[in-house]
Amino acid sequence: MLYRRFARPLLFRLDAERAHELAVSGLSRGWRALPGVPKEDPLLAQDLMGCHFPNPVGLAAGFDKYARAVAAWPRLGFGFAEIGTVTWRPQPGNPRPRVFRLPDDRALINRLGFNNHGAGRTAGRLARHRRRGHLGRVPLGINLGKSKRTPPEEAPSDYAESLKHLWPYADYVVVNVSSPNTPGLRDLQEESELAGILDALAAVNRARAEAAGSAPLPLLVKLAPDLEPAQLDAIVDLALARDLAGLIISNTTIAREDLASPASLAAEAGGLSGGPLRERSTQMLARARRRAGDGLVLIGVGGVFTADDAWAKIAAGASLVQVYTGFVYGGPGTARRIADGLAEYVHRAGLASISAAVGTAAEGGA
Ligand SMILES: Cc1cc2nc3c(=O)[nH]c(=O)nc-3n(C[C@H](O)[C@H](O)[C@H](O)COP(=O)(O)O)c2cc1C
Repeated sequence: MLYRRFARPLLFRLDAERAHELAVSGLSRGWRALPGVPKEDPLLAQDLMGCHFPNPVGLAAGFDKYARAVAAWPRLGFGFAEIGTVTWRPQPGNPRPRVFRLPDDRALINRLGFNNHGAGRTAGRLARHRRRGHLGRVPLGINLGKSKRTPPEEAPSDYAESLKHLWPYADYVVVNVSSPNTPGLRDLQEESELAGILDALAAVNRARAEAAGSAPLPLLVKLAPDLEPAQLDAIVDLALARDLAGLIISNTTIAREDLASPASLAAEAGGLSGGPLRERSTQMLARARRRAGDGLVLIGVGGVFTADDAWAKIAAGASLVQVYTGFVYGGPGTARRIADGLAEYVHRAGLASISAAVGTAAEGGA
């Protein structure tokens, strides 16, 4: 309420990226002023992929690209957080302005282009967070992308180099082949390209796990919502064959359908997120669930603003959900609000746990 009445109007007067930087910088310095980590609700907790998730509401990739505010996310009620996208080489991203608000659609368009400090420096920051005791409260995902200047044929070694740096800090690793803002990146969703990247990552993952005497990290692939159904099916089959832990569905869309925003704004190049993405990404999630059964952990992302939205993704097959645009519009109370609403749903449905709700509506649909 306070956020929507007072803070949001002020932040929304600033350029969208500048407002974002202020928010993340405030959280990275001021996390001690936030309320403590909420008490775990057994109705919402799940053990998945070898990790304990206190609740299924996660921070989506791109919000904390530089891993600056990892101490803040659990205190804001997130049950997990995904940092990045991180690329092997540091890179500045595209020229500004490159993030746009579409309030009439409760949406954003971004064409950031993987601005980040590179895997080596990010690993250094995560090491400092670990020394200060900031890691381990909730699972931390690390989202990897291809460096812009690496040619597509060298993508497998580019991703693998990033993993070498970041392996010690991740609870799960995401292969991002779905951002629309790195030329050619989405082509890596082609089965043969993706298989090469997965094999290179699996080799690093195995070697690191053996050296550390622990299990390999769960590997997931994040997909674009603009895939054809047959492409999605092929990736689900590949994920099952390669023993991946799961899929994240979905990234932002390049589609621009039925938007209420002025045409000049809607025409900005980049990926669209938020309300207009919700249905499309949920349909895709449902299709992946029907094909994979419970053989993959699915993380549903796209247009989650409320517990209703999160519940729809869970019913469609998501074990976990993530939020980006809903957090920008909803403010710091968003994760707690959604998690509390989900607990209420589980309670009212008479279920023992949120996991019993996963995939209950996956029959029918896309
Ligand atoms: C400004 C912005 C930056 C993003 N950066 C990344 C990124 O670096 N890596 C990634 O995998 N997804 C990125 N995303 C996509 C989100 O993680 C998410 O998949 C997408 O926005 C849909 O969720 P939403 O509707 O809750 O925003 C970004 C989204 C936004 C709006």
